[in-house]
Amino acid sequence: MPRPIPPTIDPSDDLASFVDLDLNQVLAPYLQSRMQSPIVQPSVAAELQARFPGAIPGDGLSLDEVLQEIGSVLLHYSRRNTHPGFFGYIAPSGVPVDPLSHALVATLNQNVVGYPGSPGAATIERTVIKWLIELIDYPEAADGVFIGGGSISNLTALACALTHRFGEGYRRRGLLACGNGASPVIICSRATHLSIQRAAAILGIGTDQVVTVDVDDDFRMRPRDLVQALEQADCPVCVVASAGTTTTGAIDPLADIAEICGDAGVWLHIDAAYGGGGLMSEELKPLYAGIERADSITMDLHKWFYNAVESSVILYRDPTCARQLFYERSDYIHFPLDGPDEQYMFFHLSPELSRRFRALPAYITFRHYGRERLGRNVLYNAQCAQYLAELVEADPDLELVAAPQLSICNFRYAPGELTETRVDAINSEIRDRIEAKGNFLMSVTHIDARPVLRVCIINHATRACHIEGLLAEIKQIGTELLGN
Ligand SMILES: Cc1ncc(COP(=O)(O)O)c(C=O)c1O
Repeated sequence: MPRPIPPTIDPSDDLASFVDLDLNQVLAPYLQSRMQSPIVQPSVAAELQARFPGAIPGDGLSLDEVLQEIGSVLLHYSRRNTHPGFFGYIAPSGVPVDPLSHALVATLNQNVVGYPGSPGAATIERTVIKWLIELIDYPEAADGVFIGGGSISNLTALACALTHRFGEGYRRRGLLACGNGASPVIICSRATHLSIQRAAAILGIGTDQVVTVDVDDDFRMRPRDLVQALEQADCPVCVVASAGTTTTGAIDPLADIAEICGDAGVWLHIDAAYGGGGLMSEELKPLYAGIERADSITMDLHKWFYNAVESSVILYRDPTCARQLFYERSDYIHFPLDGPDEQYMFFHLSPELSRRFRALPAYITFRHYGRERLGRNVLYNAQCAQYLAELVEADPDLELVAAPQLSICNFRYAPGELTETRVDAINSEIRDRIEAKGNFLMSVTHIDARPVLRVCIINHATRACHIEGLLAEIKQIGTELLGN
């Protein structure tokens, strides 16, 4: 029997070439550029594409050559989310220890399916989940799991709500379990994140079955409208409240909503993907009163907990519905739900099976910085948003559109007697020119169908001077646009 010829990839070669490279030196240019302007370098997709081979190359390059090839693109064409003037979207700044944490994750390469295959990683993940459970004052029986992002976490929560409503019938017969031609209804406010609509589409509920109730002047769900929507719905399955909406950072009246859902026997999911980090601040925590009554909660650690992507969790006050939905046995996998801790399986709580060791960067962040320091940073972000709002209000050329409740501030440049149309055009132009200048970045947002300048501060590097710098640039560009 001829022996097979050994493969050409020699693991020790790989290691040798890696050890030869000084990791610090490889990372240094990226680390140094993280806070440099411009935040975004304009690019042409086809030109970037042309720099890479069109198919998997037959011959490999040395690692040095590969690093050079990608470095020339990545150094210039990666948006600098850590830049203190980056106020766009709700994109994570990442903490300084992240490069180390993620290198460890890749080196360990744990597939964190459950305890048996990765006892160390599983223990750390369960530890962080316990910390988060404690942070929101959930009962001890609560459980949760790291998951890819807020969208998939919200999707998972809606699937659990369906299981709560229809039990085993949902698992086996899907939406047919609804019976009598009825269709499940999801209720949320009109300020809720678009991932709820997408989840409704994916789960076969349909986006038409997402009933959006109105918000008050502070962009918070109106409890009275929620009661009405519940009464009118044939088959209400889930209410989604937000603890920090994407556009304005509004926190819905969680305690009132929890009361209403409790009376109606409807699953309450709270989307705290953005706002969850605020719980780390003792000063901000009272804003979230009632969150502990949610049946499920989405929190993105890759948002206001400062961690790099991907780091999100889904938490359940009582994990029974999740376990009922996700439990499955097969010839190749069978771990009982009531087994000992040494048989604990994360896939009993979410649809994912293979997962990277997402909890490690979170663990290192919490353990290294500590909750108090992180909480002070979160509070400082909120204070910076408040400071911005006060500067805006004190300036006759600026108009506050949505006062910050957390760390998002919406306003516009609106001097003198300009028409609404002209103000809207000028603000869109200001946003674009600011991005082109490269020192600051705000995202495109509309409130009541009109463009606004939206500043989201979830960056540990941002200081009050950057807020002042942004306003100075806005006013300078505004003056130029008006030809003064
Ligand atoms: C309130 C809210 N929920 C959910 C999401 C989706 O999170 P992800 O981007 O991690 O999927 C976002 C994203 O910004 C959000 O702001």
